[in-house]
Amino acid sequence: MEHFLALTELTPDGLRDLLQKALDLKAEWKAGGNRPLLKGKTLGMVFQKPSLRTRVSFEMGMIHLGGQAIYISPNEIKLGERESVPDAARVLSRYVDGIMARVFAHADILALAQYASAPVINGLSDYNHPCQGLADFLTIVEVKGWDLGGKRLAFVGDGNNVAVSLIFGAAMLGMDFAIAGPPGYELPADVWALGQKLAGESGSTLLATHDPREAVSGADVVYTDVWASMGQEEETAARARAFAPYQVNEELMAEAKPDAIAMHCLPAHRGQEITDGVCDGPHSALWDQAENRMHAQKAVLAELLSGDDD
Ligand code: CP
Ligand code: NVA
Repeated sequence: MEHFLALTELTPDGLRDLLQKALDLKAEWKAGGNRPLLKGKTLGMVFQKPSLRTRVSFEMGMIHLGGQAIYISPNEIKLGERESVPDAARVLSRYVDGIMARVFAHADILALAQYASAPVINGLSDYNHPCQGLADFLTIVEVKGWDLGGKRLAFVGDGNNVAVSLIFGAAMLGMDFAIAGPPGYELPADVWALGQKLAGESGSTLLATHDPREAVSGADVVYTDVWASMGQEEETAARARAFAPYQVNEELMAEAKPDAIAMHCLPAHRGQEITDGVCDGPHSALWDQAENRMHAQKAVLAELLSGDDD
């Protein structure tokens, strides 16, 4: 693995190995602390958008592994404005051992990876959110086990960056995937096509519907995300109208299996895409999911920055 830009850059076995590495690092940390695998290493963290989880979990992950992180806020280097993305990539690579970037255009992540000599990690782009996807499947494996065949992940909401990483991860790991949202907000056609190819290889199924009950029926995992993502603030009112029938509430959760877990990448807009009752209720996996960002990303960091296969 040279960079971590999308789950689909991994093979299904590579994804499983990374998840196992995250489980091992989590167990090691819970047992008293991690070995300093990244002693003397520094991660540069470039943000074009706000963040709680991504910023803090990456920074703490580096501290756990004996390294350090530098936070670069949206107003500092002004990626692609003050200087070109390739020039920023070239210069950052001379200072730091790895670059994590949260951007608007996915093309900027690809350009960073192309021109950086240090490994690049995608901390969210408008296209996908692979660190989130990795943490989510870590959570799903912890609760549902490794055998995901015949189990269903239902995503209710926008066919957005988070949904993209989830369809890919599910299809790679052999988990059935269903998505329900209003017309006009489906997953991109190329994502659906690649998802179908991966699902065909793993033996899982994909379903796209406009009916949230159909997607959630018999589901093992019910997932939602904000209706308007960062950068879509001007569409907030129109999206609130379109997505109103797609709230994940207790009534919708009742359509899932009795032991289904509810997931949300956070930040949540309580009372819109998800209710307090689901966030704080017996099905909620939200806080383990948030914690798992740190463990999942530590596996990525150790893989990319440690310089060995430990
Ligand atoms: N889920 C997630 O990426 O959260 P932040 O936007 O707070 O980093
Ligand atoms: N889809 C959301 C995810 C935030 C973690 C966004 O891009 O804003």
